[in-house]
Amino acid sequence: MNIDWSNLGFGYMQTEYRYVSNYKDGKWDDGELTKDSNVVLNESAGVLQYAQTCFEGMKAYRTEDGRVVCFRPDLNAQRMVESCKRLEMPVFPEDRFIDAVKQVVKKNIDFVPPYGSGATLYIRPYMFGTNPVMGVKPADEYQFRIFVSPVGPYFKGGIKPITLRVPDFDRAAPLGTGHVKAGLNYAMSLHAIVDAHNQGYNENMYLDSATRTKVEETGGANIIFVTKDNKVITPKSGTILPSITRRSLMYVAKHYLGLEAEEREIKIEEIGNFKECALCGTAAVLSPVGKVVDHGKITEFPSGMEKAGEITQKLYDTLTGIQMGRIEAPEGWIYEIEPVKAAV
Ligand code: PLP
Ligand code: COI
Repeated sequence: MNIDWSNLGFGYMQTEYRYVSNYKDGKWDDGELTKDSNVVLNESAGVLQYAQTCFEGMKAYRTEDGRVVCFRPDLNAQRMVESCKRLEMPVFPEDRFIDAVKQVVKKNIDFVPPYGSGATLYIRPYMFGTNPVMGVKPADEYQFRIFVSPVGPYFKGGIKPITLRVPDFDRAAPLGTGHVKAGLNYAMSLHAIVDAHNQGYNENMYLDSATRTKVEETGGANIIFVTKDNKVITPKSGTILPSITRRSLMYVAKHYLGLEAEEREIKIEEIGNFKECALCGTAAVLSPVGKVVDHGKITEFPSGMEKAGEITQKLYDTLTGIQMGRIEAPEGWIYEIEPVKAAV
């Protein structure tokens, strides 16, 4: 495979196979792998008119001893069930989701980046309404697909700290869809991210839209903070996406690093008390935040703009160590895709 793995960014690269299953007359078909990367839809398909779509994101990793593994895909399958229910879409069975992930990764095994290259294979399951709709109502027919793409770091520079700003836009309403992975959450964040980039910031730190006093998350990742006494804290909110990376990091903090870890409401006005901040997610992994700008009020974390803070680095090393097989994983976190094979 002639790919410059170490210089990959986070982008789409077409691979050989993808998985497709169609829902019609109240049931899913058997599903199949195909080489056809195009989707042809009716002009009035539910997804095109009313954005009836949701997705997931996870990764496959090449371990030190050459195996290919996937990290907690059962939780992605579960979260997609929640997204589908909220969007009035049919549920794709969790066991079939995991099986389909394994099939696609196996068929594209040569696209799994080598151990140590800094790249991984991103896995993107998604579902959308396919039949024509005109009145505002759910579609009757759907397609579930999974494609994969080798990716590098989400933020250029990898583990170099980034700057966030508190935007004048909200991400999620109190009883809205912020807690599920609906495409619409991302469509409405595009203006805010373009605006942030135009003003020189890497990402938006959204506040809760009801009171605009509490930290929520960014457009594509949850947030963790480290207090001066080394406690790992993360916002508790019903309107943020329940990140699998964040849940895993909280476990790692407690059970691997012996730190206290707590999910609680975090006021924007208290972030100056913290010594470290980082974004966490499948794509972001754990990206250190050096600075937050809230309308002229600048918070610079003591960890600075040059490197990750000490606790962030330990969390990063432990989590990625688990994912890449250097550190023993908790029971049930690692799904084998392919047993030992020489690294490509
Ligand atoms: N929050 C948002 C809005 C996201 O898009 C993502 C990415 O999936 C996350 C958080 C992180 O979730 P996870 O760790 O499950 O990838
Ligand atoms: C992921 O981390 O899997 C996501 O879906 C986030 C997105 C911004 C790429």
